[in-house]
Amino acid sequence: MKVLRINASDTYEIRNQMLRPGLPIESCHFERDEEEQTFHLGAFVDNKLVSVASFYFEKNGTFDDPYQYRLRGMATLPDHQKKGLSRELLKMAFPIIKQNMCSLLWCNAREKATGFYQTVGFEKIGEEFDIQDIGPHYLMFKRV
Ligand SMILES: CC(C)(COP(=O)(O)OP(=O)(O)OC[C@H]1O[C@@H](n2cnc3c(N)ncnc32)[C@H](O)[C@@H]1OP(=O)(O)O)[C@@H](O)C(=O)NCCC(=O)NCCS
Repeated sequence: MKVLRINASDTYEIRNQMLRPGLPIESCHFERDEEEQTFHLGAFVDNKLVSVASFYFEKNGTFDDPYQYRLRGMATLPDHQKKGLSRELLKMAFPIIKQNMCSLLWCNAREKATGFYQTVGFEKIGEEFDIQDIGPHYLMFKRV
């Protein structure tokens, strides 16, 4: 298994399959994907991309920290889940986030994925909220 920096466009297929199934691929192009401080990581098994995550320099007003990163588009293909790949992506991301003078990583976590985020050290903050067409979410964060 290898973790590498990848381009935004490399993430679209896995985002589509795992996060927006049945929706056009364009729905998987996220705002800020191409910004300079954004970075995308991918885990490769047998040279095939099987897990992705994207990190954006983006502030959430819930937190006082002036500089923050946001995690989006975290997904692992079904055959490769629960093998520690997302954890590895996060492990590679933390030093990059710190190098960019940020100490907080936050995400809008799907309710179903909150167990995963808690396992890798994120905490919930606030009440459950709904994102249209996707479902219930929690704001979660981790200090890095
Ligand atoms: C959530 C998701 C990204 C996790 O990816 P993954 O590569 O399977 O995660 P990892 O194997 O690195 O898991 C790390 C730890 O979390 C645990 N974990 C994984 N999924 C979990 C879950 N749903 N609930 C509780 N714990 C979970 C793993 O067992 C592992 O624990 P361990 O290190 O103690 O053994 C993956 O299940 C997925 O793609 N889900 C569908 C898309 C999605 O919902 N993405 C999140 C959008 S907010």
